[in-house]
Amino acid sequence: MHKRLLLCALALTLCLGASGLSIMAQDMGSDEEPAEDKKEEPSKEEPKGDGIKRNDVPEEFSKLEVPDLKAQETIDAGKKTYEGKCAGCHGEAGQSDGKYSAKLDPKATKLADAGFQDAVTDHYIYWRIKTGDDGYAGEGKSKMKSFGSMKEAQVWELVAFVRSLAAPKVEILNSTEFEDLMSDLKRTNKSIGAAAHDRDAATKAGDEMVKLVPKLAGYDGNVRSGDHSGEKVRDQADWKAFVKQMQDAADAYAKHAKAEEWDKADEAKATIGETCGDCHDVYKKKRR
Ligand code: HEC
Ligand code: HEC
Repeated sequence: MHKRLLLCALALTLCLGASGLSIMAQDMGSDEEPAEDKKEEPSKEEPKGDGIKRNDVPEEFSKLEVPDLKAQETIDAGKKTYEGKCAGCHGEAGQSDGKYSAKLDPKATKLADAGFQDAVTDHYIYWRIKTGDDGYAGEGKSKMKSFGSMKEAQVWELVAFVRSLAAPKVEILNSTEFEDLMSDLKRTNKSIGAAAHDRDAATKAGDEMVKLVPKLAGYDGNVRSGDHSGEKVRDQADWKAFVKQMQDAADAYAKHAKAEEWDKADEAKATIGETCGDCHDVYKKKRR
Protein backbone atom coordinates (compact mmCIF):
# COMPACT_ATOMS: atom_id res chain seq x y z
CA MET A 1 0.00 0.00 0.00
CA HIS A 2 2.81 2.33 0.86
CA LYS A 3 4.40 1.57 -2.44
CA ARG A 4 1.22 2.50 -4.24
CA LEU A 5 0.91 5.78 -2.40
CA LEU A 6 4.47 6.55 -3.28
CA LEU A 7 3.79 5.84 -6.95
CA CYS A 8 0.73 8.10 -6.89
CA ALA A 9 2.73 10.86 -5.31
CA LEU A 10 5.42 10.39 -7.92
CA ALA A 11 2.92 10.47 -10.79
CA LEU A 12 1.35 13.62 -9.36
CA THR A 13 4.69 15.34 -9.07
CA LEU A 14 5.58 14.40 -12.63
CA CYS A 15 2.24 15.69 -13.99
CA LEU A 16 2.45 18.92 -12.08
CA GLY A 17 6.00 19.33 -13.18
CA ALA A 18 5.05 18.79 -16.82
CA SER A 19 2.05 21.15 -16.76
CA GLY A 20 4.18 23.70 -15.02
CA LEU A 21 6.70 23.49 -17.84
CA SER A 22 4.12 23.93 -20.61
CA ILE A 23 2.56 26.92 -18.90
CA MET A 24 5.96 28.44 -18.39
CA ALA A 25 6.73 27.93 -22.08
CA GLN A 26 3.63 29.91 -23.10
CA ASP A 27 4.38 32.46 -20.53
CA MET A 28 7.94 33.32 -21.51
CA GLY A 29 8.96 36.77 -20.56
CA SER A 30 7.43 36.75 -17.15
CA ASP A 31 9.73 35.74 -14.33
CA GLU A 32 6.96 34.77 -12.02
CA GLU A 33 5.30 31.42 -12.12
CA PRO A 34 1.60 31.59 -13.01
CA ALA A 35 -0.64 31.77 -9.98
CA GLU A 36 -2.84 28.85 -11.02
CA ASP A 37 0.12 26.58 -11.05
CA LYS A 38 1.00 27.46 -7.50
CA LYS A 39 -2.44 26.51 -6.30
CA GLU A 40 -1.94 22.97 -7.54
CA GLU A 41 1.34 22.54 -5.74
CA PRO A 42 0.73 19.77 -3.19
CA SER A 43 1.13 21.22 0.27
CA LYS A 44 2.10 19.21 3.32
CA GLU A 45 -1.07 20.19 5.17
CA GLU A 46 -3.38 18.81 2.50
CA PRO A 47 -4.82 15.42 3.34
CA LYS A 48 -3.64 12.56 1.19
CA GLY A 49 -6.33 10.64 -0.58
CA ASP A 50 -7.66 9.02 -3.71
CA GLY A 51 -8.20 12.30 -5.53
CA ILE A 52 -12.03 12.05 -5.59
CA LYS A 53 -13.78 15.27 -4.65
CA ARG A 54 -16.49 14.37 -2.18
CA ASN A 55 -19.43 16.40 -0.94
CA ASP A 56 -19.39 17.97 2.50
CA VAL A 57 -20.98 15.96 5.26
CA PRO A 58 -24.34 17.59 6.20
CA GLU A 59 -24.20 19.38 9.50
CA GLU A 60 -26.65 17.12 11.31
CA PHE A 61 -24.09 14.34 10.75
CA SER A 62 -20.81 16.20 11.05
CA LYS A 63 -21.56 17.25 14.62
CA LEU A 64 -22.36 13.77 15.93
CA GLU A 65 -20.08 12.57 18.70
CA VAL A 66 -17.72 9.83 17.56
CA PRO A 67 -17.50 6.90 20.01
CA ASP A 68 -14.35 4.85 20.62
CA LEU A 69 -13.74 3.13 17.29
CA LYS A 70 -10.67 1.21 18.44
CA ALA A 71 -12.39 -1.08 20.93
CA GLN A 72 -12.10 -4.67 19.75
CA GLU A 73 -15.72 -5.55 20.68
CA THR A 74 -16.99 -2.65 18.61
CA ILE A 75 -14.90 -3.71 15.62
CA ASP A 76 -16.02 -7.34 16.00
CA ALA A 77 -19.69 -6.33 16.19
CA GLY A 78 -19.24 -4.20 13.07
CA LYS A 79 -17.62 -7.12 11.28
CA LYS A 80 -20.70 -9.26 11.88
CA THR A 81 -23.07 -6.67 10.44
CA TYR A 82 -20.69 -6.02 7.57
CA GLU A 83 -20.55 -9.67 6.57
CA GLY A 84 -24.34 -9.79 6.34
CA LYS A 85 -25.08 -6.41 4.76
CA CYS A 86 -22.03 -5.06 2.98
CA ALA A 87 -19.66 -7.84 1.92
CA GLY A 88 -21.82 -8.84 -1.06
CA CYS A 89 -20.89 -5.59 -2.77
CA HIS A 90 -17.76 -4.36 -0.98
CA GLY A 91 -16.08 -7.77 -0.45
CA GLU A 92 -15.20 -9.51 2.83
CA ALA A 93 -11.96 -7.60 3.22
CA GLY A 94 -13.14 -4.38 1.58
CA GLN A 95 -11.55 -5.18 -1.78
CA SER A 96 -14.72 -4.70 -3.84
CA ASP A 97 -14.81 -8.36 -4.81
CA GLY A 98 -18.17 -9.43 -3.38
CA LYS A 99 -20.55 -11.70 -5.25
CA TYR A 100 -22.53 -8.77 -6.73
CA SER A 101 -19.42 -6.84 -7.57
CA ALA A 102 -19.35 -7.70 -11.27
CA LYS A 103 -22.82 -6.15 -11.78
CA LEU A 104 -21.96 -2.81 -10.22
CA ASP A 105 -20.96 0.31 -12.10
CA PRO A 106 -19.34 2.11 -10.45
CA LYS A 107 -17.98 -0.69 -8.32
CA ALA A 108 -18.61 -0.57 -4.60
CA THR A 109 -15.68 1.40 -3.19
CA LYS A 110 -12.60 -0.53 -2.07
CA LEU A 111 -13.04 0.37 1.58
CA ALA A 112 -9.65 -1.09 2.54
CA ASP A 113 -7.89 1.25 0.14
CA ALA A 114 -5.49 3.63 1.87
CA GLY A 115 -6.40 6.45 -0.51
CA PHE A 116 -10.07 6.18 0.40
CA GLN A 117 -9.29 5.88 4.11
CA ASP A 118 -7.13 9.00 4.03
CA ALA A 119 -9.67 10.96 2.03
CA VAL A 120 -12.68 10.57 4.32
CA THR A 121 -13.62 11.33 7.90
CA ASP A 122 -15.41 8.99 10.32
CA HIS A 123 -18.46 11.25 9.98
CA TYR A 124 -18.41 10.85 6.22
CA ILE A 125 -18.44 7.05 6.46
CA TYR A 126 -21.27 7.23 8.98
CA TRP A 127 -23.31 9.57 6.81
CA ARG A 128 -22.94 7.46 3.66
CA ILE A 129 -24.04 4.28 5.45
CA LYS A 130 -26.96 5.93 7.19
CA THR A 131 -28.38 7.78 4.18
CA GLY A 132 -26.78 6.45 1.02
CA ASP A 133 -26.85 10.12 -0.13
CA ASP A 134 -24.54 10.98 -2.97
CA GLY A 135 -21.05 11.38 -1.66
CA TYR A 136 -19.60 12.60 -4.95
CA ALA A 137 -20.68 13.09 -8.51
CA GLY A 138 -19.81 9.81 -10.14
CA GLU A 139 -20.70 8.31 -13.48
CA GLY A 140 -22.64 5.08 -13.81
CA LYS A 141 -25.81 4.15 -12.07
CA SER A 142 -25.10 1.83 -9.17
CA LYS A 143 -25.28 3.51 -5.81
CA MET A 144 -24.46 2.93 -2.21
CA LYS A 145 -27.44 1.45 -0.39
CA SER A 146 -29.08 3.37 2.42
CA PHE A 147 -29.31 1.81 5.87
CA GLY A 148 -31.65 4.43 7.31
CA SER A 149 -33.36 2.23 9.85
CA MET A 150 -30.13 1.01 11.38
CA LYS A 151 -29.50 2.14 14.98
CA GLU A 152 -26.87 4.82 15.52
CA ALA A 153 -24.63 2.51 17.60
CA GLN A 154 -24.71 -0.18 14.93
CA VAL A 155 -23.68 2.30 12.24
CA TRP A 156 -20.71 3.38 14.38
CA GLU A 157 -19.74 -0.27 14.76
CA LEU A 158 -19.64 -0.47 10.98
CA VAL A 159 -17.50 2.66 10.83
CA ALA A 160 -15.11 1.03 13.34
CA PHE A 161 -14.90 -2.10 11.22
CA VAL A 162 -14.39 -0.13 7.99
CA ARG A 163 -11.52 1.73 9.68
CA SER A 164 -9.98 -1.54 10.87
CA LEU A 165 -9.77 -2.76 7.26
CA ALA A 166 -6.83 -0.46 6.66
CA ALA A 167 -4.88 -1.42 9.77
CA PRO A 168 -1.25 -2.09 8.94
CA LYS A 169 -0.44 -5.72 8.35
CA VAL A 170 2.64 -7.18 9.97
CA GLU A 171 4.14 -10.62 9.66
CA ILE A 172 2.39 -13.26 11.68
CA LEU A 173 4.25 -15.96 13.56
CA ASN A 174 2.39 -19.09 14.39
CA SER A 175 1.73 -20.02 17.94
CA THR A 176 4.31 -22.79 18.14
CA GLU A 177 7.09 -20.49 17.01
CA PHE A 178 5.93 -17.88 19.48
CA GLU A 179 5.94 -20.36 22.35
CA ASP A 180 9.47 -21.36 21.40
CA LEU A 181 10.47 -17.72 21.61
CA MET A 182 8.84 -17.43 25.03
CA SER A 183 10.72 -20.52 26.22
CA ASP A 184 13.98 -18.96 25.05
CA LEU A 185 13.10 -15.75 26.88
CA LYS A 186 12.32 -17.70 30.02
CA ARG A 187 15.57 -19.67 29.85
CA THR A 188 17.61 -16.54 29.23
CA ASN A 189 15.87 -14.70 32.04
CA LYS A 190 16.80 -17.57 34.35
CA SER A 191 20.45 -17.37 33.23
CA ILE A 192 20.41 -13.65 34.05
CA GLY A 193 19.11 -14.48 37.52
CA ALA A 194 21.68 -17.24 38.03
CA ALA A 195 24.59 -15.13 36.78
CA ALA A 196 24.32 -12.84 39.80
CA HIS A 197 27.42 -10.62 39.74
CA ASP A 198 29.60 -12.94 37.70
CA ARG A 199 30.75 -10.73 34.83
CA ASP A 200 31.24 -13.45 32.17
CA ALA A 201 27.98 -15.28 32.82
CA ALA A 202 26.03 -12.03 33.12
CA THR A 203 27.48 -10.64 29.91
CA LYS A 204 26.68 -13.84 28.01
CA ALA A 205 23.08 -13.94 29.24
CA GLY A 206 22.65 -10.21 28.62
CA ASP A 207 23.87 -10.47 25.02
CA GLU A 208 21.51 -13.36 24.43
CA MET A 209 18.56 -11.33 25.72
CA VAL A 210 19.49 -8.37 23.53
CA LYS A 211 19.29 -10.66 20.49
CA LEU A 212 16.02 -12.33 21.48
CA VAL A 213 13.85 -9.29 22.19
CA PRO A 214 13.62 -7.91 18.62
CA LYS A 215 11.93 -11.16 17.58
CA LEU A 216 8.92 -10.06 19.62
CA ALA A 217 8.44 -7.10 17.30
CA GLY A 218 7.67 -9.38 14.35
CA TYR A 219 4.73 -10.92 16.13
CA ASP A 220 1.25 -9.69 15.34
CA GLY A 221 -2.31 -10.54 14.56
CA ASN A 222 -4.07 -13.76 15.28
CA VAL A 223 -2.55 -16.79 16.89
CA ARG A 224 -2.94 -19.40 14.19
CA SER A 225 -2.83 -22.65 16.07
CA GLY A 226 -2.83 -24.15 19.53
CA ASP A 227 -5.09 -23.30 22.46
CA HIS A 228 -5.49 -19.65 21.52
CA SER A 229 -6.11 -20.16 17.86
CA GLY A 230 -7.95 -17.30 16.21
CA GLU A 231 -7.56 -14.86 19.07
CA LYS A 232 -6.24 -11.38 18.48
CA VAL A 233 -3.01 -11.07 20.36
CA ARG A 234 -2.40 -7.43 20.47
CA ASP A 235 -3.14 -3.85 19.90
CA GLN A 236 -0.06 -2.63 18.08
CA ALA A 237 0.70 0.44 20.15
CA ASP A 238 0.78 -1.41 23.48
CA TRP A 239 2.74 -4.35 22.19
CA LYS A 240 5.34 -2.09 20.67
CA ALA A 241 5.67 -0.19 23.94
CA PHE A 242 6.32 -3.41 25.85
CA VAL A 243 8.85 -4.57 23.30
CA LYS A 244 10.67 -1.24 23.44
CA GLN A 245 10.75 -1.24 27.23
CA MET A 246 12.15 -4.78 27.14
CA GLN A 247 14.76 -3.86 24.55
CA ASP A 248 15.93 -0.82 26.53
CA ALA A 249 16.19 -2.87 29.71
CA ALA A 250 18.07 -5.70 27.97
CA ASP A 251 20.50 -3.23 26.38
CA ALA A 252 21.09 -1.54 29.74
CA TYR A 253 21.61 -4.84 31.52
CA ALA A 254 24.14 -6.11 28.97
CA LYS A 255 26.05 -2.83 29.03
CA HIS A 256 26.23 -2.48 32.80
CA ALA A 257 27.07 -6.16 33.38
CA LYS A 258 30.01 -5.81 31.00
CA ALA A 259 31.17 -2.74 32.95
CA GLU A 260 30.48 -4.51 36.27
CA GLU A 261 28.19 -1.67 37.33
CA TRP A 262 26.05 -4.00 39.40
CA ASP A 263 23.62 -1.47 40.90
CA LYS A 264 22.55 -0.37 37.47
CA ALA A 265 22.63 -3.92 36.09
CA ASP A 266 20.34 -5.10 38.90
CA GLU A 267 17.95 -2.24 38.19
CA ALA A 268 17.74 -3.25 34.53
CA LYS A 269 17.28 -6.89 35.55
CA ALA A 270 14.29 -5.90 37.67
CA THR A 271 12.79 -3.98 34.75
CA ILE A 272 13.16 -7.05 32.52
CA GLY A 273 11.24 -9.15 35.03
CA GLU A 274 8.53 -6.50 35.42
CA THR A 275 8.10 -6.21 31.68
CA CYS A 276 7.51 -9.97 31.35
CA GLY A 277 4.77 -9.66 33.95
CA ASP A 278 3.24 -6.43 32.60
CA CYS A 279 2.97 -7.80 29.08
CA HIS A 280 1.48 -11.06 30.33
CA ASP A 281 -1.12 -9.15 32.34
CA VAL A 282 -2.38 -7.63 29.11
CA TYR A 283 -1.82 -10.32 26.51
CA LYS A 284 -1.43 -13.74 27.98
CA LYS A 285 -4.71 -15.52 28.35
CA LYS A 286 -5.61 -16.32 31.93
CA ARG A 287 -5.75 -20.02 32.63
CA ARG A 288 -9.25 -21.01 33.65
C1 HEC B 1 -25.87 -3.07 -3.31
C2 HEC B 1 -24.44 -2.90 -3.16
C3 HEC B 1 -23.94 -2.22 -1.89
C4 HEC B 1 -24.17 -2.58 -0.58
C5 HEC B 1 -25.01 -3.74 -0.07
C6 HEC B 1 -23.40 -1.65 0.22
N1 HEC B 1 -22.74 -0.75 -0.57
FE1 HEC B 1 -21.52 0.74 0.05
N2 HEC B 1 -21.33 1.38 -1.85
C7 HEC B 1 -21.83 0.74 -2.97
C8 HEC B 1 -21.44 1.46 -4.18
C9 HEC B 1 -21.78 1.07 -5.60
C10 HEC B 1 -20.69 2.57 -3.74
C11 HEC B 1 -20.00 3.62 -4.64
C12 HEC B 1 -21.00 4.61 -5.17
C13 HEC B 1 -21.43 5.57 -4.10
O1 HEC B 1 -20.58 6.06 -3.35
O2 HEC B 1 -22.64 5.83 -4.02
C14 HEC B 1 -20.66 2.50 -2.28
C15 HEC B 1 -20.05 3.43 -1.44
C16 HEC B 1 -19.85 3.28 -0.08
C17 HEC B 1 -19.16 4.22 0.77
C18 HEC B 1 -18.58 5.56 0.34
C19 HEC B 1 -17.32 5.35 -0.42
C20 HEC B 1 -16.71 6.59 -1.01
O3 HEC B 1 -15.77 6.42 -1.81
O4 HEC B 1 -17.09 7.71 -0.69
C21 HEC B 1 -19.13 3.67 2.02
C22 HEC B 1 -18.46 4.26 3.26
C23 HEC B 1 -19.83 2.42 1.97
N3 HEC B 1 -20.28 2.22 0.68
C24 HEC B 1 -20.00 1.56 3.03
C25 HEC B 1 -20.91 0.49 3.02
C26 HEC B 1 -21.26 -0.29 4.18
C27 HEC B 1 -20.62 -0.16 5.57
C28 HEC B 1 -22.23 -1.17 3.79
C29 HEC B 1 -23.02 -2.16 4.64
C30 HEC B 1 -23.78 -1.61 5.74
C31 HEC B 1 -22.44 -0.97 2.38
N4 HEC B 1 -21.63 0.04 1.95
C32 HEC B 1 -23.32 -1.72 1.59
C33 HEC B 1 -22.57 -0.41 -2.99
C34 HEC B 1 -23.05 -1.07 -1.87
C1 HEC C 1 5.47 -8.25 24.50
C2 HEC C 1 4.75 -9.09 25.40
C3 HEC C 1 5.46 -10.19 26.15
C4 HEC C 1 6.66 -10.06 26.82
C5 HEC C 1 7.54 -8.84 26.99
C6 HEC C 1 6.92 -11.37 27.39
N1 HEC C 1 5.92 -12.25 27.06
FE1 HEC C 1 5.82 -14.21 27.59
N2 HEC C 1 4.07 -14.40 26.59
C7 HEC C 1 3.40 -13.39 25.93
C8 HEC C 1 2.15 -13.91 25.39
C9 HEC C 1 1.13 -13.15 24.55
C10 HEC C 1 2.09 -15.26 25.76
C11 HEC C 1 0.95 -16.25 25.46
C12 HEC C 1 1.14 -16.95 24.15
C13 HEC C 1 0.03 -17.95 23.90
O1 HEC C 1 -0.53 -18.47 24.85
O2 HEC C 1 -0.25 -18.24 22.73
C14 HEC C 1 3.32 -15.53 26.52
C15 HEC C 1 3.62 -16.77 27.05
C16 HEC C 1 4.72 -17.03 27.83
C17 HEC C 1 5.04 -18.33 28.37
C18 HEC C 1 4.21 -19.58 28.20
C19 HEC C 1 4.51 -20.18 26.85
C20 HEC C 1 3.59 -21.30 26.54
O3 HEC C 1 4.07 -22.39 26.40
O4 HEC C 1 2.37 -21.02 26.42
C21 HEC C 1 6.21 -18.19 29.09
C22 HEC C 1 6.94 -19.26 29.87
C23 HEC C 1 6.62 -16.81 28.99
N3 HEC C 1 5.71 -16.14 28.20
C24 HEC C 1 7.75 -16.27 29.56
C25 HEC C 1 8.15 -14.95 29.44
C26 HEC C 1 9.30 -14.37 30.12
C27 HEC C 1 10.19 -15.09 31.10
C28 HEC C 1 9.36 -13.07 29.71
C29 HEC C 1 10.37 -12.01 30.12
C30 HEC C 1 11.76 -12.34 29.99
C31 HEC C 1 8.27 -12.84 28.79
N4 HEC C 1 7.55 -14.01 28.66
C32 HEC C 1 8.03 -11.64 28.16
C33 HEC C 1 3.84 -12.10 25.77
C34 HEC C 1 5.00 -11.56 26.29
